[in-house]
Amino acid sequence: MIVAVDGPSGAGKGTLARRLAERLNFAYLDTGALYRAVASRVLSEGGNPADEKTATAVARALVPADMARADLRSETTSQGASKVAALIPVRQALLDFQRSFATLPPGNKEGAVLDGRDIGTVVCPEAEAKLFLTASAEERARRRHKELLDRGEKAIYARVLEEMRERDRRDSERSAAPLVAAEDAVLLDTTDLSIEAVFEKALAVVLSRMEPR
Ligand code: DC
Repeated sequence: MIVAVDGPSGAGKGTLARRLAERLNFAYLDTGALYRAVASRVLSEGGNPADEKTATAVARALVPADMARADLRSETTSQGASKVAALIPVRQALLDFQRSFATLPPGNKEGAVLDGRDIGTVVCPEAEAKLFLTASAEERARRRHKELLDRGEKAIYARVLEEMRERDRRDSERSAAPLVAAEDAVLLDTTDLSIEAVFEKALAVVLSRMEPR
C-alpha cells in the first residue's frame, strides 16, 4: 500500500508521515531530503543550485549518505532545494528511486509512506491513500521559526515568513510538477489542529483505504 502525503513546507507533512509509517509499520521516505541533498552537494562544491547541468549531474550521482548531510535543513539549503526542484531533469533523475521505494519498500514492509509535493500527482498517482496538508503561511512560518530556535539557531519571524512565501511561490508556480493537490486527495487544514488531531484524522483516512485482510 502506498500513502502519499503532500503539501507546502511547514504544514506538518514530515511529522505526520513519520508517525503514520511507525504506526502502520510501513517504510518512510522524506522526498524533500532528496532535493535538499542535491542542493547541499551543489553548494558545498561551490556550484549554483539553479544551474541545470550541475544540479542534474549531482542528482544522478546521489548516494544515501548525501541525505544525512549536516546542513540539510539550513535556510540556504532550503532555498537551494526549491531551485533544484524546479529543474525537470533533476526531478526526472530522482523519480525512479522514489517509485521503487514506494512499490518495493525496503525491509520487506507491506507499504510505504512518502511525503513531498508531487507524490499523489506524479510519483505515485496510483497511491491508495492521498493526503494533502495545508496551513496558513503565518502558522507554517511560526512552526518553522520555533523549530529553528529550538535548534539553537538565530531566526527572525518576519524573515522566516518572507522566505516561506518565496518558497511557496517557487514551488507552486514552477512548470515542472508544481505543488497542487491530487483530485482524489483528502485535504487537511492543520492551522488549528494539534499534531495528535492531524494524526488521528489521517490515520482514519488511511485505514479506510486499506484492503481488508
Ligand atoms: O519538504 P521540504 O521542505 O524538505 O522540500 C524541500 C524542497 O524540495 C522544497 O522547495 C520543495 C521541493 N520538493 C519537491 O519539489 N518535490 C518533492 N516531492 C519534495 C520536495
